[in-house]
Amino acid sequence: MTDQTPSRTIAVIGGTGPQGRGLAYRFALAGHHVVIGSRAADRAKEKADEIAARATENGFDVTVEGDENVAAAQRADVVLLAIPWQGHDEAVADLAPALAGSLVISCVNPLGFDANGPYGLVLEESAAQRAQRIAPDARVVGAFHHVAALSLWRTPDPLTHEDVLVCGDDAEAKDVVAELARSVTGKRGVDAGALRLARQLEPLTAVLISMNKAYKTRTGVAITGLPTQE
Ligand SMILES: NC(=O)c1ccc[n+]([C@@H]2O[C@H](COP(=O)([O-])OP(=O)(O)OC[C@H]3O[C@@H](n4cnc5c(N)ncnc54)[C@H](OP(=O)(O)O)[C@@H]3O)[C@@H](O)[C@H]2O)c1
Repeated sequence: MTDQTPSRTIAVIGGTGPQGRGLAYRFALAGHHVVIGSRAADRAKEKADEIAARATENGFDVTVEGDENVAAAQRADVVLLAIPWQGHDEAVADLAPALAGSLVISCVNPLGFDANGPYGLVLEESAAQRAQRIAPDARVVGAFHHVAALSLWRTPDPLTHEDVLVCGDDAEAKDVVAELARSVTGKRGVDAGALRLARQLEPLTAVLISMNKAYKTRTGVAITGLPTQE
């Protein structure tokens, strides 16, 4: 934990899936208190134990708990939505009262897959914008769309060669999330602009997945030309 990054309680909705598990693991290693959320409390607790065990194996002392999604959200000051696009709106609507006043991060990528591979769904609103509309009293920020679940889980080393792009309309919320990106890359996330730009960031993941397949690797995003920062 650095001075710039105070410890937070972070609920990971859909934390039983690979992306939620990976980000939860990284947040826990960085010293944050993590609550894994699931539609079933027992699944959440099982996943929390798995994450804590991996952290302990790697020599970290972490706090990871599990709870049902709404209860997890109520316990946190930051809530990460790591749920699939399919069923997203209904899930956010169920959570909306619990999200009021919270900082909500969306890493949800609305993608389709067909015989030609992955593609970004053409939507009037991004997933992050929809979350903001459905939960108007939350402060929604888009981030962590391009970090691969396997990379997050495989090693405790920071993914220093990658950038986390952060978009949002609330400057203070965006600043908090840019600092949380240190848990993953060891450096501040990049301010990628307004929340509406999630419409461009989310489908970019289809291009990364396509390149992963072509090159048999795990690609990420790194931005050049930015001023050097701590
Ligand atoms: N996988 C990646 O590498 C990656 C990278 C960047 C971003 N993302 C984004 O991160 C999100 C999660 O990805 P993932 O691969 O971890 O997804 P996933 O495994 O398909 O789903 C994550 C969890 O969401 C819950 N869930 C499933 N359907 C739901 C519904 N209808 N309503 C509420 N909860 C539901 C499930 O948990 P319970 O059954 O326990 O409730 C599931 O374990 C996606 O939007 C994806 O686009 C993924």
